[in-house]
Amino acid sequence: MSGELHVIYSEILECTKCDLHKSRTKAVPGEGPYDARIMFVGEGPGQTEDEQGRPFVGAAGKFLTELLESIGLKRSDVFITNIVKCRPPNNRAPRKSEIEACNPYLQAQIRLINPRIVCALGTPAISTLMGDEYSASRFHGQPLTKGEVTILPMYHPAAALYDASLKETIYHDFKILKQLLEKEETFNPSTPKSAESSGGKQTLEKWA
Ligand code: URA
Ligand code: SF4
Repeated sequence: MSGELHVIYSEILECTKCDLHKSRTKAVPGEGPYDARIMFVGEGPGQTEDEQGRPFVGAAGKFLTELLESIGLKRSDVFITNIVKCRPPNNRAPRKSEIEACNPYLQAQIRLINPRIVCALGTPAISTLMGDEYSASRFHGQPLTKGEVTILPMYHPAAALYDASLKETIYHDFKILKQLLEKEETFNPSTPKSAESSGGKQTLEKWA
């Protein structure tokens, strides 16, 4: 299984399926344990991510790490990626055609990692994963279960970073994630926690 993820990883690095490849420095496939129970999906790489080829390594990423720590998780416990893997020029919003061109990679990552919970960060990720009628402002903190996977829409950490009231809201959304995890552990006590099982495992970060 990890082999297939590695193939996808390599395909993304060389992908030319949409115009975003023309202006990227590095594509950003995503990183984290192959068996992560939780996956985070953001909007797209920003400048720092484009330079480093890693997701959420700028200011929003630092805040995401703090949010994870607030509920007892480490960044290395979760898989982190975006709806588009290449940076939109000047951080403009990704276009529908770009999101559609890139979506097969995201869908394959979700299928292969098979997380229990997918956190969609911000409206572009939320509407891509849940449908056009879903937005952060209306649906944040309201999980939706689709088959085996629960999608939890959340505000984007970058939106909340400089807005005190949104900051409180996003911390609350993370509390809901914690509750979902606790519930899931109660029903599936044998599900390995990536925090415990990924010690000696390959992670995408290590393939990079
Ligand atoms: N914002 C995102 O949506 N994704 C990143 O990877 C970094 C910032
Ligand atoms: Fe390919 Fe996605 Fe990058 Fe577009 S954004 S070039 S579809 S990897």
